[in-house]
Amino acid sequence: MSLLAVEHLTVAYTMQRTRLNLTAVQDVSFAAASGEFVAMIGPSGCGKTTLLNAIAGLTPPQAGAICVDGRPVRGPGHERAMVFQAPALLPWRTVVSNVAYGLELQGMPKPQAARVARDYLGVVGLRDFAESYPRELSGGMQQRANLARALSIQPQLLLCDEPLAALDAQTREYMQAELQRIWLARPMTALYVTHNIAEAVFLADRVLVMSAAPGRLKADFAVPFARPRALSIQRTPQFQAIAEAIWAQLERPADLPAGHDENADPR
Ligand SMILES: Nc1ncnc2c1ncn2[C@@H]1O[C@H](COP(=O)(O)OP(=O)(O)O)[C@@H](O)[C@H]1O
Ligand SMILES: [Mg+2]
Repeated sequence: MSLLAVEHLTVAYTMQRTRLNLTAVQDVSFAAASGEFVAMIGPSGCGKTTLLNAIAGLTPPQAGAICVDGRPVRGPGHERAMVFQAPALLPWRTVVSNVAYGLELQGMPKPQAARVARDYLGVVGLRDFAESYPRELSGGMQQRANLARALSIQPQLLLCDEPLAALDAQTREYMQAELQRIWLARPMTALYVTHNIAEAVFLADRVLVMSAAPGRLKADFAVPFARPRALSIQRTPQFQAIAEAIWAQLERPADLPAGHDENADPR
């Protein structure tokens, strides 16, 4: 049973000045089974954010269909939650009231929302920072709070748009392990966009590769490793073989000069 079904999805933008159409996502079809962690990778500008926004119900598609749990997506809904690259926490609210905010918007009474928010701060390891303000947290901690906010609404589908991209390399690796721990504690269907190959392979059951713009689906790799996975798995030949196969499929963004690729040749 697939929880997410994307069928022949095309998303286009009309440029404001010229009125020209720009196709950002072209004829993309894939499905994610219930509880599956699917990573999506592709060069910058290939339409990853556009695809996530369409699934979130924020951007209407030009053609095709999106179904979540058998129901067509026609706009935003509580069964989907998005984690953006920039945490976008409200600076005047404490961490716990930032997490509670989404629940309050759903109509949950404030005391209950605060209780649930505290539970999820525990899940992401921020229990002791509930009363802090966002500016008092490091980038990694802010992203944990952001994650707690998305998880607290208990979505069936978690949509992640490069949530670790703004973090330094060491924090990023640590957060990858944390994400796995959190996901194992609360398994849910996830669609996780990144442009980091190792991150995709480490976290996912499957890695989908998008072509350069306009984004089409190019390849679909299964990642067979049992969980929990240790970060050191990245140094095994099996892991490197998958990473290399993905790397071979990954096109460079049209505007990137040679030698400026975060996913350096793993060979
Ligand atoms: N709101 C928008 N209006 C017009 N064009 C957009 C808009 N958002 C994105 N685009 C264009 O769509 C293409 C895909 O962008 P995006 O989905 O952000 O790619 P990615 O997330 O893979 O980097 C790019 O060419 C980008 O310039
Ligand atoms: Mg993007």
